[in-house]
Amino acid sequence: DMGGHDTYMHKEISEQADAVDRVLRGRIDEKFSTVHLGGLNLDAREARGIRRVKILGCGTSYHAGMIGASLIEGLARIPADAEPASEFRYRNPVVDPDTLYIAVSQSGETYDVLAAVQELKRKGARVLGVVNVVGSAIAREADGGVYVHAGPEVCVVSTKCFTNTVVAFALLALHLGRIRDLSVADGKRIIEGLRKLPEQIQEILEGEEDIKKLAAEYADAKSMMFIGRVRGYPVALEASLKLKEISYIHAEAYPASELKHGPLALIEPAMPTVAIVPSDGLLEKNRAAMEEIKARSGRILAVAHQAQEKADHTIIVPKNEDELDPILMGIPLQLLAYHTALALGRDIDKPRNLAKSVTVE
Ligand code: F6R
Repeated sequence: DMGGHDTYMHKEISEQADAVDRVLRGRIDEKFSTVHLGGLNLDAREARGIRRVKILGCGTSYHAGMIGASLIEGLARIPADAEPASEFRYRNPVVDPDTLYIAVSQSGETYDVLAAVQELKRKGARVLGVVNVVGSAIAREADGGVYVHAGPEVCVVSTKCFTNTVVAFALLALHLGRIRDLSVADGKRIIEGLRKLPEQIQEILEGEEDIKKLAAEYADAKSMMFIGRVRGYPVALEASLKLKEISYIHAEAYPASELKHGPLALIEPAMPTVAIVPSDGLLEKNRAAMEEIKARSGRILAVAHQAQEKADHTIIVPKNEDELDPILMGIPLQLLAYHTALALGRDIDKPRNLAKSVTVE
């Protein structure tokens, strides 16, 4: 049932305020400025003993894991990174007892992720799951974890589950942070930010008509560049994946800092750039990157908290805490991909060559 929407993708994008409300519900502990995660199976002493965090997933879940890694590193101050599960399992990785491994999957059935979890468990590692489908293979195999509670996702491409997965990582990062060195004040700050998310998401969704107009402006592109820095880079990766999957427009995502090391050669009017430009400590650096693109006659669509004079167009999103801004900045770009694909007449819920869950190697 599409509930009055023309596609499941549109329904699922539109549901995100409620979905985020669900992942937060019942988990916030005001008294200690932390969150409770019932299924984690990790006591405080164990949480203090973690020396590294390694996050494994595929596709969109890998991108969500990249933001998860920066949340954990930022809030809990544990070195953390994300890697495609499929790469990890074939490179004979060193498995370390002080590393916490986290498998991320919407379906909980992606074969490469499941195989990585099984290999890790065989080697005695502790593996948590950040999973949407309750009781799925990865959820059962993991030692514990956090359910994402996005609800059923029918469209082949992931949208609401990406957003909820990142929120689930914010909860985990806050939980680990408050057991370790995150202050009460910072815990409160993040909780207040989390509570604001549903309303801010709704505000972004109400701007859909403007994003639709922008999609019409850029739908003639043969190729698009997506750039961001640090927290903005996984947002760029995910937005470029979404555009490729449903519109079949070629897209590249690069850290803005890497532009001058090669991809700047691609910039010309036929290759517009989407720039992720949050108002954080990197704003000036991002402005400089936009200036370089303009100097090569590139068109720029910025996603920012205030109008960007270097950009041809700006999609303005509400400001949250710096750590949580990537959650909001991804949402208008889901709509941009959606309306671009719609303008091109694509089969949005069932893009060519793709399956909802990849249960083969
Ligand atoms: C992208 C997409 C895929 C999945 C990937 C992992 O829109 O849907 O890239 O994210 O196949 O799937 P899960 O999360 O089910 O493990």
